[in-house]
Amino acid sequence: MPLRPADLTRRKQAGLPITMLTAWDALSAAVVAGAGVDAVLVGDSLAMVVLGHATTLPVTLEEMLHHCRAAGRGLAAVAAHDPPLLICDLPFLSYQCGADAAVAAAGRVLKETPAVAVKLEGAEPETLAVIDRMVRSGIPVMGHLGLTPQSVHQLGYRRQASDPVSQERLRRRALALQEAGCFALVIEHVPEELASGLSASLVIPVIGIGAGDGCDGQVRVTADLLGLTSRQPPFSPPLMQGRALAVEVLGRWVREQGPAAAPRPATRPASPAAPHC
Ligand code: KIV
Repeated sequence: MPLRPADLTRRKQAGLPITMLTAWDALSAAVVAGAGVDAVLVGDSLAMVVLGHATTLPVTLEEMLHHCRAAGRGLAAVAAHDPPLLICDLPFLSYQCGADAAVAAAGRVLKETPAVAVKLEGAEPETLAVIDRMVRSGIPVMGHLGLTPQSVHQLGYRRQASDPVSQERLRRRALALQEAGCFALVIEHVPEELASGLSASLVIPVIGIGAGDGCDGQVRVTADLLGLTSRQPPFSPPLMQGRALAVEVLGRWVREQGPAAAPRPATRPASPAAPHC
């Protein structure tokens, strides 16, 4: 049976941890589905991870739809009968320019891709109104609070909610998202006690990244875990050095073909960290 958004709440109620990984195409989706994750997120971090942008802001709705369709094909190839939940990020400015445009953008995700839910960032009054419209239109919505990369020019990539006032604000916003009808909440780069407190107080699952081990579930950018990106966020250490390993084995193949130019370094020289999530 395909997993549905409401199944995540049942998992939380049963005390089962929830896992979510990002995918950006058929290949990565097949890999993470093969690993057995509960949910696959076509995150707008793909703007940085695979499209080479400096932030998540430039990625368009058309590009997200294109990548989400590809990820869906990857899931169908390996998990046709029991696919993980496929969720697609709504990109910057696809849901901030009026409720009609926002519902239409989210509707395109459900009509034109195999995703069954969208994720969007923040809990401003306009965003809450948009979520309410989406949910009443039959579109499941996942919220995202804490470090919200679409607000990078206001928040930076710093840890969020470090003082009691901003922690109380975040708690209120999380509750507002639940009341607006979100089926789950991603919480990014906030103090561990805040995230575990939210997990305990909310009915909907809280899925953390850089938010400690006390959440109902965990999400990671797959390219970070595999060590494929040149710079990892500090809160998402790689499980393997995939990029260096790939350069090494491919370099060996290149050298086996005959005399070659000197190999290039696997990673760029150190520069200020710009995590993509
Ligand atoms: O875009 C993304 O990959 C995300 C995850 C970090 C949750 O939003």
